[in-house]
Amino acid sequence: MKGVFIVFEGGEFSGKTTQAKRFAQYLKEKGFDAILTREPGGTPEGQKIRERLLHEKLTAWEELDLFFEDRRIHVAKIIKPSLREGKIVISDRFSPSTIAYQGGGRGLDQELISEKDYAARNGIWPDKIILLDGDPEKLRERAAGRGEKLANFENLGFDFHSRVRESFLKQARENPNTWCVINALRSIEHVFQEVKACVAVLESVNLG
Ligand code: TMP
Repeated sequence: MKGVFIVFEGGEFSGKTTQAKRFAQYLKEKGFDAILTREPGGTPEGQKIRERLLHEKLTAWEELDLFFEDRRIHVAKIIKPSLREGKIVISDRFSPSTIAYQGGGRGLDQELISEKDYAARNGIWPDKIILLDGDPEKLRERAAGRGEKLANFENLGFDFHSRVRESFLKQARENPNTWCVINALRSIEHVFQEVKACVAVLESVNLG
């Protein structure tokens, strides 16, 4: 694979979507062939899966399988072909979210998640994973202060989101060469500088 695969991760209200968008824009302005995509919902089929995930009442196992179905299509139709063409692929969430939310948050069997995930992602793994980390309650308060909709968060509760955060941090500790952990409570500008510094270590992405 000639391209570069960069993933943004984080809990609710961490600001990862804002940063992923801004970073993709920055790369394009610098002349890189970059695409921004996301999970769930990075393909038209995935968009339908996303609607189901966000609105239907599902068991934890049904939910897990839908995330994998979304990923399988996303990898096959968007991520792999783009990497083959030498693009920089930026994804707003990927496998670490399943490990954190369905494994850490919901407590589903980690080994089974890893096996199914390996099949869904077809062996693809990010070159860099950028984690926007922060205390879930503080991130929620910040979002509430901005008048954002909090439904998702309130439904699952603080303990769930703390387990999600712990799982992300554990994954980052286990693979420090791939992960960058950034304090999500800092300003958008500060976080953005750290995102750039994180990616700048990749030889193939010369940010000058
Ligand atoms: P978003 O907030 O980034 O749009 O993601 C939608 C929700 O999906 C968010 O609450 C995290 C959740 N999610 C999982 O639970 N497992 C996964 O594998 C992925 C990709 C997302």
